[in-house]
Amino acid sequence: MDAITISNLSKTYQSRSKVNYALKNVSFSVREGEMFGLLGPNGAGKTTIINILSGLLTKDKGIITILSKDPEIEKEAVKNQMNVGAAYSFLTGILTVEQNLRVYGKLYGVKDLDQRISHLLKIFEIEDLRHKKVFILSTGQIIRVILCKGLINNPKVLLLDECTVGLDPDIAQKTRKILKDYQKEQGTTIVFTSHNMTEVEQLCDRIAFLHKGEILMIGTPKELRKRIKTQSVKIDIIGEKRKSLRSIVERFKVKVTESKLNMVIFEIRGEVELPKIINAIIKEGLEIIDINVRKPSLEDVFLKIARGEQL
Ligand SMILES: Nc1ncnc2c1ncn2[C@@H]1O[C@H](COP(=O)(O)OP(=O)(O)OP(=O)(O)O)[C@@H](O)[C@H]1O
Ligand SMILES: [Mg+2]
Repeated sequence: MDAITISNLSKTYQSRSKVNYALKNVSFSVREGEMFGLLGPNGAGKTTIINILSGLLTKDKGIITILSKDPEIEKEAVKNQMNVGAAYSFLTGILTVEQNLRVYGKLYGVKDLDQRISHLLKIFEIEDLRHKKVFILSTGQIIRVILCKGLINNPKVLLLDECTVGLDPDIAQKTRKILKDYQKEQGTTIVFTSHNMTEVEQLCDRIAFLHKGEILMIGTPKELRKRIKTQSVKIDIIGEKRKSLRSIVERFKVKVTESKLNMVIFEIRGEVELPKIINAIIKEGLEIIDINVRKPSLEDVFLKIARGEQL
């Protein structure tokens, strides 16, 4: 079953006489219990999607369903089963952490609010911040309060927009685990945006790549990585020989991305080229000390798309 369906969603902004598309005929669906990543360069439209889903922005065109309901018609029913956590989520600085969570808990009609707040503060390891005013908190502490806010009503659908930004590596790892465990235990559907590729790769079941308001690809991290046909090869030789390592490699019409006198990095499309290249280097009397073949990462997919390069 799909928890979220989006079809032909468009959003435009007028600037002078020009119409700019923030989203252009975007269609995808998120399955129930899935962690779905939205990836894309700055300005791609990720936040716009999150804001339209959460009701903060209105769409120009398109059809959306959340838990089989139209969120514009059945506002209350959808609101109670959904929540948002974003780096820009609103917290009141002069109120304490507990008071802020209490306000949101009341808004969502949470029963057993005291217990819920204690539980969330405990799992995010911020019990000591309970009575601290929000304006004195550090960026990473605020993010964790925002995540508590996002989970306050035990939502069926959780929208998270760059909500791990500013966390130190230890807390970031713990936070990823909390979110993944939560998704598994509660069957929560999570839409997740982040510029941290490792994080997206670790967490998300499927990912959509957005670029200039349009979806370019959707798939599992593995499927997306497979779309890149090239592999990156790094060869190191002993010493700095006069004969250019780069020129030997370039004879094979491969794309050299970096080179020094004793090192070259290039892209190959098939595995057949590599033995030939290695043989040629050896024939020229150069001594290879290391060969490293790197399979494409999600970051490679991202960079290629963002730079408009062929996959
Ligand atoms: N209020 C607005 N007025 C005009 N244009 C806007 C407005 N809000 C967003 N946009 C434009 O919509 C496009 C999509 O913005 P959006 O914030 O969704 O991008 P994003 O993918 O979240 O980027 P980032 O990675 O930087 O967070 C951008 O070109 C942005 O300039
Ligand atoms: Mg954004």
